[in-house]
Amino acid sequence: MENYLSQRLQNMEESQTIAMNEKTKDLQEQGLDIVNLTAGEPDFFTPDAIKAAAKAAVDNNFSFYTPVAGYMDLRKAIAGKLQRENNLTYTPEQIVVTNGAKHALANAITSLIDPNDEAIIPAPYWVSYSELVKLAGGSNVIVPTSIDSNFKMTTAQLEAAITPRTKLLILCSPSNPSGAVYSKAELQALAEVVAKHKRLFVLSDEIYEHINFVGKHESMAQFESIKDRVIIINGVSKAYAMTGYRIGYSATSLGLAKACTKLQGQFTSNASSIAQKASVAALTLDNTPTQEMTKAFLRRRNLVMEWLQQMPGLRCTVPDGAFYAFPDVSAFFGKSDGTTTLKNDMDVCLYLLEKALVASVPGSAFGAPSCIRLSYATSDENLLKAMKSMKAALAKLV
Ligand SMILES: Cc1ncc(COP(=O)(O)O)c(C=O)c1O
Repeated sequence: MENYLSQRLQNMEESQTIAMNEKTKDLQEQGLDIVNLTAGEPDFFTPDAIKAAAKAAVDNNFSFYTPVAGYMDLRKAIAGKLQRENNLTYTPEQIVVTNGAKHALANAITSLIDPNDEAIIPAPYWVSYSELVKLAGGSNVIVPTSIDSNFKMTTAQLEAAITPRTKLLILCSPSNPSGAVYSKAELQALAEVVAKHKRLFVLSDEIYEHINFVGKHESMAQFESIKDRVIIINGVSKAYAMTGYRIGYSATSLGLAKACTKLQGQFTSNASSIAQKASVAALTLDNTPTQEMTKAFLRRRNLVMEWLQQMPGLRCTVPDGAFYAFPDVSAFFGKSDGTTTLKNDMDVCLYLLEKALVASVPGSAFGAPSCIRLSYATSDENLLKAMKSMKAALAKLV
């Protein structure tokens, strides 16, 4: 049959993690005990008080369509959170509740990007950004960063990437995959550049806000000169261990919030009514469970870093947030264990999978082919096992 798929879809990249996941599954089916460090979600259960709110929502018949932008009590809870935790003032009308943070990103990108518009994305980046920009007909201007700049983009790099076609800058702090966290001063310097370019909007992905080991979260929206052109993206997935509930949100200018609502009204309508009620509980009840999870992630980060730093050839910055380590493994390219010679990041991941029984994600999936991503959202016991076998396997490469 003739190729019937749209050009738009054909231009879209398949997730590069699929090959790794399939190989992992094959080995697991053969009975091998693989430690999976590919997870992009907390390994904890949703806190009980949030689960109770979801159950109550079912019993209280919150089963009808909600407003497209979300129940008013949830939008008020989000506005309350932004004021309380971030000192940012938004009205509930400026908030749009979505089917996960990913959907909030899709709404904003589709509402802003026209064919030929450019989006600046510092690499390493979370892979959906560039694909969503392409889907909207725009082009990506990828700004590479490296371990030597702590995986952060400088103002000079931003200035150099801006053209008359630039419409969007996409930032993620704390970052998936690098764990880098921009300081207030670093964000302010970037904001000053953005302020000079009136057509430039900033998509600020703050989904890992609460998993921050270096102090208080700094939002790009705190700078008044650009606040109207910032779209905060956040949600309950990571902070409250609610990835399956699928609740995210955007906070931005009223005009852009209305545009996102118009788009969402045609594509999906509202996010799940039950999950919305659970999210009200997440955002208003005591957040001790979130703090406990963050403490566990910090302990695990320290455990993983202690081991990674002892592995000769591997270079790794200490991640300041999120739950990933992103070591540079390029020193192993060209090395061999006597049978296989590793050429690139994918080969390193496959080698670790087959010889150390550790599943990881190649950095090229995030635009950083010198690195691999290791998620530490798993038990201390699993991490210890993975680190020991990784160290032994890498030591065999010459
Ligand atoms: C950087 C980043 N942004 C957004 C998302 C999407 O979150 P959600 O599950 O709420 O759609 C993820 C999930 O992995 C992520 O890592």
